[in-house]
Amino acid sequence: MTSTPTRILTGITTSGTPHLGNYVGAIRPAIAASHAANVESFYFLADYHALVKVQEPARVQRSTLEIAASWLACGLNPDKVWFYRQSDIPEIPELTWLLTCVAGKGLLNRAHAYKAAVDKNRGDGEDDDAGVTAGLFMYPVLMAADILLFNAHKVPVGRDQVQHIEMARDFGQRFNHLYGEPAGKAYFTLPEAVIEAQVATLPGLDGRKMSKSYDNTIPLFAPREQLKKLIYSIVTDSRAPGEAKDADSSNIFQLYQAFASADETIAMREAFAGGISWGVAKQELFERIDTEVAPMRERYETLIANPANIERQLRDGAQRLRARYATPCIATLRTAVGLRALDAHSAADAKITAAKGSLPLFKQYREADGKFYFKLHGGDGRLLVQSNGFDSPKEVGQLIARLKTDASQLRGQAEPSLQLGGMTIGQLGEGVVADDVVDALHLLLTEAGDA
Ligand code: TRP
Repeated sequence: MTSTPTRILTGITTSGTPHLGNYVGAIRPAIAASHAANVESFYFLADYHALVKVQEPARVQRSTLEIAASWLACGLNPDKVWFYRQSDIPEIPELTWLLTCVAGKGLLNRAHAYKAAVDKNRGDGEDDDAGVTAGLFMYPVLMAADILLFNAHKVPVGRDQVQHIEMARDFGQRFNHLYGEPAGKAYFTLPEAVIEAQVATLPGLDGRKMSKSYDNTIPLFAPREQLKKLIYSIVTDSRAPGEAKDADSSNIFQLYQAFASADETIAMREAFAGGISWGVAKQELFERIDTEVAPMRERYETLIANPANIERQLRDGAQRLRARYATPCIATLRTAVGLRALDAHSAADAKITAAKGSLPLFKQYREADGKFYFKLHGGDGRLLVQSNGFDSPKEVGQLIARLKTDASQLRGQAEPSLQLGGMTIGQLGEGVVADDVVDALHLLLTEAGDA
């Protein structure tokens, strides 16, 4: 039996040089995951996204080259996974516009990055939108297009990106709802965020999380001598050689652990307890990292010396991907919204008008037991939630309001009962999962225009 492979998609913004933290936190696990059975992986260079932050053309170009070369050098196989550059797929900006026209502006107002910019402006006594580009505001819509165009099931991202995945679901669902679902099949698959909880975040040179924004990174492919210098410059405490050192609170140990086998890690822990000097610990750390990185560094240097070769691979990936997915998908979507030949007939149109009337619906009522209840029905009439009984209609009203604003809290709840703020408020209908409820609530919110 063969089932549809799970489509896993992630983008890398081309605005910097890959460092050890990116390698351990993203590149290494992603390449390992791409070898799993029954997955179809999509890795792409998000260069349109880079333009939101970086307006230096040479840096965008250089970063794109470095990131592409890094992923290839680390073992990504472009014959086995889709590896491409966002700006080589014109269907992505095209879909961005179609989604822009269904995206609630109110929902975008709530995006963390945009809100942070507005809050900062308010704090500084500036106009709310001072210095804010429409690119920053629309960032989540472009990202939704990246994901929805390929009907990705899973999107591995950092915690800071989860809200963007929620928004992609929202826009996708709104489009599905608005334009009907041809032959019972939705236009878009609603994606799920995958947060890699067990993936290590590495400390940087100063002990804070390794990050470009702290300027404390160690480039993944720094030449050997520079790597050594950087590792020797990592801050440590002033414990002398011979003094016992605590492994768990040490940056050196954490970095070592991210590259070492279980046995090597145990041995290093013992060496810490036995008073290894910082100089020797750093030497061992350097050797351990260099052993893993050196063969990849060699490939990286060859790759980066020949940009035309990478250029060819990226274009080839994009061309095949367009033919396989992007071009047919956008053709269907254009037809769906009415951008179609003037003599074309669509059987879907009548259905769409009918579907528009059927939004999810809350019903409030009182039972013979004197208590107040609500039910939530889906647009298709299915019972999604049956509430518990409450003492007053006001309580029920407040609960419904809270369900709408805090819908995302329900995401992923496994129980047959539905929890909100630590309280059981009701039961899910037959065959309903909590995510169905979240999607229905989001749909209500967007439809009401008060998202
Ligand atoms: N916004 C993501 C980040 O900064 C990068 C990105 C762009 C992305 N498009 C994507 C990630 C689509 C996942 C899926 O990390």
